[in-house]
Amino acid sequence: MKSFEELLKSFETYFSERQFPSSPATLYDPAQYILGIGGKRVRPVCVLMGNELFDDLKEDAYHVAAAVELFHNFTLIHDDIMDKAPLRRGMQTVHTKYGEPTAILAGDATFVQSYVKLSAIQPPLLQEVMPLFNRTALEVCEGQQLDMDFEQKASVSLDEYVEMITLKTSVLLAASLKLGSIIGGASKGNRDHLYEFGKNLGIAFQIQDDYLDAFGDPAKFGKQVGGDILANKKTFLMIHALETASPSDKEKLEQLLQSNPEDKIAQVLAIFKNAGVDSWALQLKNEYFEKALQHLDAIAVMSKRKEPLQQLAKFLIQREY
Ligand code: IPE
Ligand code: IPE
Ligand code: MG
Ligand code: MG
Ligand code: MG
Repeated sequence: MKSFEELLKSFETYFSERQFPSSPATLYDPAQYILGIGGKRVRPVCVLMGNELFDDLKEDAYHVAAAVELFHNFTLIHDDIMDKAPLRRGMQTVHTKYGEPTAILAGDATFVQSYVKLSAIQPPLLQEVMPLFNRTALEVCEGQQLDMDFEQKASVSLDEYVEMITLKTSVLLAASLKLGSIIGGASKGNRDHLYEFGKNLGIAFQIQDDYLDAFGDPAKFGKQVGGDILANKKTFLMIHALETASPSDKEKLEQLLQSNPEDKIAQVLAIFKNAGVDSWALQLKNEYFEKALQHLDAIAVMSKRKEPLQQLAKFLIQREY
């Protein structure tokens, strides 16, 4: 069994070559740019781990891993346009650097390249892999639309938030693991438990992302801190504050959601803190982390084989970037 670091290294070797044609450079250089500025590569490593949980690593797992990472980067390019985000991985976002029209097209090209990678796998496997990949890709779009719809909604429930982050974020992590397990020849029961592990872990992962967007260290996070507040995102932090803040804080928060004072981020953060969001974040994250581990426990392979996934899960919910 290989560790996260070992799998990451072997994926990077495979993925480090240019993923796009050279010309026109005005289209493909921006697409290659985002791939080259880093990223944790969590999803492709999940594909490899899903395979290795059940069998030796197969060549096809690398194709699927690349497809998933390309798909993820496509969503990031377009997400940064939607979220008006200036920074990604500590660098300028694609639309900031190259303009929105090019970023839209570079995203489209990255989406197509993900399917090119996917179609390189053996045909019998492709038949199993394609429906899951397609369903997941649509779910991510659904989640992204809900995320934007909620910006305009005055009140969003915790259940609606969890449903939205499940779609926009966690199903891709879950699918990455399951795609790997399909390549590794896992039984249906084991695949499904691995998917549920990924889904619950993915929810905890997005909870951490939303926490870091408010309280992360800008030097480590690599994205603009406070961006979700500026966009009126209905994260669990906002939902919890709206539900539990004192009447005067609640009124202030509702006013801040309707306006854009220069110190909006600082004012909202102060209300978040008053509402005790720190301990709420821990509680919520742990709830989904524990659910994830129960599904990992239920997978019928020797527990030693599960260690890399346990380590990955711990890292993902404690990460600072
Ligand atoms: C960012 O994903 C988008 C979310 C779903 C939160 P990552 O945090 O995995 O981003 P990179 O690929 O490591 O930059
Ligand atoms: C984005 O969620 C999820 C997808 C890209 C599908 P966020 O908008 O929170 O992701 P970041 O914080 O920009 O990476
Ligand atoms: Mg974003
Ligand atoms: Mg977003
Ligand atoms: Mg975020």
